[in-house]
Amino acid sequence: MKFYCGEDYKAMSRIAANIISAQIIMKPDCVLGLATGSSPEGTYAQLVEWYKKGDLDFSQVTSVNLDEYRGLSGDNDQSYRYFMNTHLFDHVNIDKSRTFVPNGLEPDSEKACREYDAVVEATGGVDLQLLGIGHNGHIGFNEPAKEFCKNTQCVDLTESTIEANKRFFEKEEDVPRQAYTMGIGTIMRAKKILLVASGEGKADIIAKAFTGPITPEVPASILQLHNDVTVVCDKAAMSKI
Ligand code: GLP
Repeated sequence: MKFYCGEDYKAMSRIAANIISAQIIMKPDCVLGLATGSSPEGTYAQLVEWYKKGDLDFSQVTSVNLDEYRGLSGDNDQSYRYFMNTHLFDHVNIDKSRTFVPNGLEPDSEKACREYDAVVEATGGVDLQLLGIGHNGHIGFNEPAKEFCKNTQCVDLTESTIEANKRFFEKEEDVPRQAYTMGIGTIMRAKKILLVASGEGKADIIAKAFTGPITPEVPASILQLHNDVTVVCDKAAMSKI
């Protein structure tokens, strides 16, 4: 496992964007596993900047996102599809028909999950999976549990996740209570994993996930078993390691 520490959020984002750029340059038709949340926002902004300078080409890239709120359409400005469009896809030359996000509008959760597994499978596998981390150690929306879940699943969000994510919604009642998320098994099958975290608020969980015991109660801890993980933090998030 490699750790890189940037001075601040901008520096952390630049390091992460460099790693993603290297992946795209080395393999122009790569499959990127993408994440949402405030942690990767700066990474996407940096990639867009480099794309605009002519340094990056997304034309052959395929992307699969980790998760989506159940019940939200891609037009809803709180959906993760909307986030990806506005932070990355609308600004680069990626072919949007090759960008995949779980279908939040599919009410049959079993169908939504199995369809998304098939989508990920059909890409031939994720080359580089970008991840953020929740305060409770969740990755994607894989919340602390009794066991690690293999495939895409429909999850009930925990109170702490609802609390953390309500800042993006007008009212707490508006935060969806469920989400579709790629499973831990799918995440672990990615060839490379890049996890980004910033701020003091993430320092405890970064230490717990990467120096503590491997347990489904801290979903990110399983990344200790992956053979190609890079963790990129700012100083504050790295302060307890
Ligand atoms: C959400 C997302 C995760 C993300 C996490 C942390 O719950 N489903 O993929 O990693 O929040 O978000 P942030 O980066 O905003 O702290």
